[in-house]
Amino acid sequence: MIVGVPTETAAAERRVAITPPVAEKLIDRGLDVCVASGAGLGSDWTDDDYRAVGCEVVDGRDAVFERADVICQVRGLAANEDEPMDPYREGQIVVGTLGPYDLADESYEELADRRVSAFALELMPRISRAQSMDVLSSMASIGGYKAVLVAAEQLPQLFPLEMTAAGTVRPADVFVIGAGVAGLKAIATAERLGASVKGYDIRLEVKQEVESLGADFVELDLETEGSGDDEGYAIEMGEEFYEQQRKELGRVVPESDVVITTAAIPGAPAPELVSTEMIEGMDAGSVVVDLSAPTGGNCEPTVAGETIEHDGVTVFGPTNLPSTVSHTASQLFANNLNNFLNLLVEDGEVDVDLDDEVIDSTLLTHDGEIRRPHEDDDDEETNDEAADEPTEDEADA
Ligand code: NAI
Repeated sequence: MIVGVPTETAAAERRVAITPPVAEKLIDRGLDVCVASGAGLGSDWTDDDYRAVGCEVVDGRDAVFERADVICQVRGLAANEDEPMDPYREGQIVVGTLGPYDLADESYEELADRRVSAFALELMPRISRAQSMDVLSSMASIGGYKAVLVAAEQLPQLFPLEMTAAGTVRPADVFVIGAGVAGLKAIATAERLGASVKGYDIRLEVKQEVESLGADFVELDLETEGSGDDEGYAIEMGEEFYEQQRKELGRVVPESDVVITTAAIPGAPAPELVSTEMIEGMDAGSVVVDLSAPTGGNCEPTVAGETIEHDGVTVFGPTNLPSTVSHTASQLFANNLNNFLNLLVEDGEVDVDLDDEVIDSTLLTHDGEIRRPHEDDDDEETNDEAADEPTEDEADA
């Protein structure tokens, strides 16, 4: 069985899905690996590095699609806005970030027509067993780290407290909104650089984690009951809730030198939490890094993929910070993929076990069928809509 690694074609994408160390592991397990010439260059792996571990290096990415049984991509289908449909062969397996929420109906149909089995790793269930395959967490962690460096580079003041013969300077005030994987890494990185750090999340259970990193947890005067799903993850709230949240955040944001926002709801637009007015209240020279820019942004003035200046405050809207740390990002991505392939490939053969939660949750199309696993459950309702429904007591009355 041949695992294929085409070059990535999305703009400014420097990562590669399979690195030479992971290719070596696959080859040790009896698989063949076919790599497009130059696929690893953006993350500092040469064709010779791939050849050295036993890969076949071919000219042109189309040759990979022609030869491989399993295609591994960092950004395929709707995750690559420049190339929505690659030349997938009849019956091919595709694994990578594939943008399932944005994938057009015609693309689902096209994949099903070609009997492609497409696995979107964004849909990895958040269960312990899946952690080692979770590319979103790996990439979020790198994004959180890099967001702090971007802010520190731009801020016209030092992060740490400095007591020198020339005088004392106070530490920078960094406020991180959203303390999931990216936010916690941003908090840890800003702490290491010596800033005075505050963190906030709608999920109060992360308070301890934030404090264990040395930061202060900001508690807002908000009714957060019903803000999480059964697994404890944030769900989309109603506009009334966000309005109240903005009012409360308005006390903290203007006092900060750096604001890093990471608040996200899986499969939904990012909640708008920081208004233009709050940003206008920040000192000139302050910096905002909005890691939720790809899903609409947490800050009103954010423009995805751009850096803007508003009233003296720089607002970054990065869409792919992991690609700027491409070597490490590719290592982690490839390790996640290797763990996924361990599950998918049994004795050199692909085994699509639909009874396995990881397989079932990530598989978009299979055997000519469109599955859309992320649309299975009726989880579209917002908290406001939920509030409109009668409670059990009301229904009983
Ligand atoms: P995410 O990327 O979906 O969201 C980022 C953060 O934004 C979350 O902490 C969320 O609570 C927060 N948020 C959403 N709406 C907000 C609002 N209105 N105000 C403030 N904050 C808001 O989440 P991420 O980082 O992927 O994971 C969240 C949690 O799930 C983490 O604690 C992580 O450890 C856990 N997790 C577990 C996995 C597993 O067990 N396989 C995999 C991924 C995450």
